[in-house]
Amino acid sequence: MSETSIYGEYLPAMEQIKDELLKRINELRVRLTQKYGSDPVDHCLARIKSDESMREKCRRNGIPETTENALHFFRDAIGLRIVCSFLSDVYTIRDYLIRFNDLELVEEKDYIRKAKDNGYRSLHLIVKTSQGFFVELQLRTISMDTWAALEHQMKYKKGKMASEELIVSELKRCADELASTDVSMQTIRDMIFTEEGASVL
Ligand code: GTP
Ligand code: MG
Repeated sequence: MSETSIYGEYLPAMEQIKDELLKRINELRVRLTQKYGSDPVDHCLARIKSDESMREKCRRNGIPETTENALHFFRDAIGLRIVCSFLSDVYTIRDYLIRFNDLELVEEKDYIRKAKDNGYRSLHLIVKTSQGFFVELQLRTISMDTWAALEHQMKYKKGKMASEELIVSELKRCADELASTDVSMQTIRDMIFTEEGASVL
């Protein structure tokens, strides 16, 4: 392993951006909780991709292990995951985030509307900060997060299995069942909100 970080002199600035964004999201949660009566976010994580993972990613992609590539060729050196309670919360939070005026939305991949073939679901945003750093924001529901965590854990084990095809299709089935539960939970919440709203009138 190399002596210096692949991020070079930029590491402190990256840490600061990560912490600052997390803080702002937590402030947003407080505001939205006051406004809507419940927290749209279950939990939020932030990380800087480790030096070793970033170097491994460069090697895997056949590109030189440079600070420039770590910061600009890949755009997930700084990453935040926002795990929401309900489906609609994912899009509510997304709409607030893209209105942060020092962030520019440079890419959006909606793996919720169109899931990956393996069943993976999440809304991915790549934003650029005013200082020129890229940040990957992954927004998903608790169900989607559960699936992704368990699938990630098993990724290393499958691939060598004789029953690979069955494992892949069973994982896909679980993802689809969880997605259908997310829709049902959203419907239940909408019913409660409508009834509450009607009783206030
Ligand atoms: P990466 O090289 O992995 O960054 O892929 P990409 O740049 O094409 O972006 P993509 O939007 O496909 O995925 C980015 C990140 O989403 C990954 O690093 C994972 O954290 C997550 N992700 C994407 N696909 C999967 C999946 O099938 N399973 C799990 N558990 N996570 C996934
Ligand atoms: Mg990526």
